[in-house]
Amino acid sequence: MKILAIETSCDETAIAILECEGSEKGTTFNILGNVLLSQIEIHKQYGGVFPALAKREHAKNLVPILEAVLEEAELLHEDTQVMTDETRTKISEILVREQGLAELFFEFVNECEPPALDAIAVTAGPGLEPALWVGVNFAKALSLAWSIPLIAVNHMEGHILSALAEESGPTSYKLQSINLPLLALLISGGHTELVLMKEWLTYELIGQTRDDAVGEAFDKVARMLGLPYPGGPEISRLAEKVRTSDVLVSELGHPMSKFKLPRPMINEASCDFSFAGLKTAVMYLLKKQNVLMNERSANDKDSMNMHIAREFEDAVAEVLWKKTSRALKQTGAQTLVLGGGVSANTHIRRTFVDNITNEYPHITLRIPVPSLTTDNAIMIALAGFYHAQNKEYADLETLKANGNLALAETGISAKK
Ligand code: KG4
Ligand code: ZN
Repeated sequence: MKILAIETSCDETAIAILECEGSEKGTTFNILGNVLLSQIEIHKQYGGVFPALAKREHAKNLVPILEAVLEEAELLHEDTQVMTDETRTKISEILVREQGLAELFFEFVNECEPPALDAIAVTAGPGLEPALWVGVNFAKALSLAWSIPLIAVNHMEGHILSALAEESGPTSYKLQSINLPLLALLISGGHTELVLMKEWLTYELIGQTRDDAVGEAFDKVARMLGLPYPGGPEISRLAEKVRTSDVLVSELGHPMSKFKLPRPMINEASCDFSFAGLKTAVMYLLKKQNVLMNERSANDKDSMNMHIAREFEDAVAEVLWKKTSRALKQTGAQTLVLGGGVSANTHIRRTFVDNITNEYPHITLRIPVPSLTTDNAIMIALAGFYHAQNKEYADLETLKANGNLALAETGISAKK
């Protein structure tokens, strides 16, 4: 089955075409085409993602990216298409709010042959709603123009499934049968949640953040330390410097290595999280240290930031592990998945690998390969494939982008 997938939930415009075979008992995926355009440089000046700008950039880039992906997949063939007036009117209505996308769309679609695809998958949520809408409307328009069924995908399901994909070649992956129940710790810019999959593609929420998402906390603390957006990789870089350099630690001497931040809710008898207090604690610590440090050198300030970054990362990793461990005991999970952009974090990965090996050797830990960790369209295609197999097609009239789309609500199946 050939699937084209579109991802525009945040600041990445991504389209991929995958050829997928098999079932959840064993699947092979071949990447026929994959293009991802990051908007990070554009959003950097705002210190975070600016939704109206993200929307505009997606609208500008979707058609050129589609063209490049189809070409890479050798599915781009020139031909003059005659669309019925009815289809053209419907598509114009769908794309009317997408700033210039309709013109680019018709110009392209009118000159190429409908590609041989079995389904189009698109992220319907969660994410930034204006950004999601561009992708959803674009997918609807393609579905109409080419008469190809549409699949609405939950972005978080993409993160879970991408962690199960193992590389089997430069452009191919395989997904082998997994032991259920599967527990997923999903950590991204907008989410921190523990989700249980008891049956394939059926989800139950076990715990979630009561305030900030962990990626959001990384980004906000990075900003306090004067680091650019996105802050997660920057904090990680600073923290790793302290962890790997004995010289730095000894030069600094006592006070900084003694920084202590709270581990919010770590001993509370639930699988919920809270990161707002940790972020505030960093703010107070910085205020206090900046007063004390007024007379000190810029070098000392840099060292202080590194130690704060390390203590922050330690606190996050400890809380994430403790809550996951609680959830593993509570659910009897056989497989643990770490997914979402923050799962790129070296220290968090290491903490989970070490703790699983030592404390739960019978549980299989699955972490996405680096190329599939942050947002991408390959993961949307994977999720789309399984839903396409069940023929869970979206209704073009009623499909909406939903910024808060829930993957799992306690006890409620996500299956249609
Ligand atoms: O999943 P993702 O790419 O987008 C969302 O769906 O939100 O996650 C983005 C988040 C950002 O908050 C970013 O700072 C964080 O993932 N992130 C990291 C690292 N790489 C990305 N956080 C900590 N350490 C990293 N190495
Ligand atoms: Zn994501």
